[in-house]
Amino acid sequence: MPKRWVRGHRKDYFYLKAKEEDYRSRAFYKLLQAFQKYQFIKPRDVVVDLGAAPGGWLQATRKIVGAKGFVLGVDLVQIEPFEYPNVFTIVGDITEPELVDRIKAILPRKADVVISDVSPHISGIWEVDHARQIDLANSSLHIAKSVLRDNGNFFVKLFQGDLFNSFLNMTKKSFTDVKVIKPQASRKESAEIYVLGLGFKSKNTSASSCAI
Ligand SMILES: C[S@@+](CC[C@H](N)C(=O)[O-])C[C@H]1O[C@@H](n2cnc3c(N)ncnc32)[C@H](O)[C@@H]1O
Repeated sequence: MPKRWVRGHRKDYFYLKAKEEDYRSRAFYKLLQAFQKYQFIKPRDVVVDLGAAPGGWLQATRKIVGAKGFVLGVDLVQIEPFEYPNVFTIVGDITEPELVDRIKAILPRKADVVISDVSPHISGIWEVDHARQIDLANSSLHIAKSVLRDNGNFFVKLFQGDLFNSFLNMTKKSFTDVKVIKPQASRKESAEIYVLGLGFKSKNTSASSCAI
């Protein structure tokens, strides 16, 4: 079990930077740093952001896709609206099967990218939190497989642990190239790690084959 698994909001460098630069969360920098390395979002892309509140990733994504892109954020909680006309948000639970149809009804076309920073409520019991995070990552993968265009990309948060490799292997079946990323803005002592799936293989992937 990683040391200091449960910890409060520490006012670290990226926390203060987000406040200073008026971004909604320090998570903004995690997405930006992963993007700077792999460019998995492009200008004009259609992007779905799962577990998007309070909206740091939505801000980072809007910056990348620009005025001609389309961004949809989904979260259990209401996200404070943005002034951009191409950033939309809905309240929804990614584990609910009907969410896929709600997302499809809002998107202008199939998504180019699905990103997911969804986190469970942390119980402090390592095995429980790891298993919950894997369940949520599976739900995110299911949604990605349902809404992504062929060759689209998927970026998802996980906690390291026993179940990580089986999730990684499942992702490898649906994407041409899979990377494991620990952005600099992710605290070193945190178990969180991100998986990036590049090049969705829509033809040999069935969304229903992924358990949620
Ligand atoms: C770490 S926060 C996301 C931070 C966000 N990426 C940002 O940059 O501001 C994780 C989010 O996952 C959401 N979440 C947890 N379970 C969820 C579920 N089943 N469906 C949708 N959202 C969920 C939480 O409400 C929380 O807002």
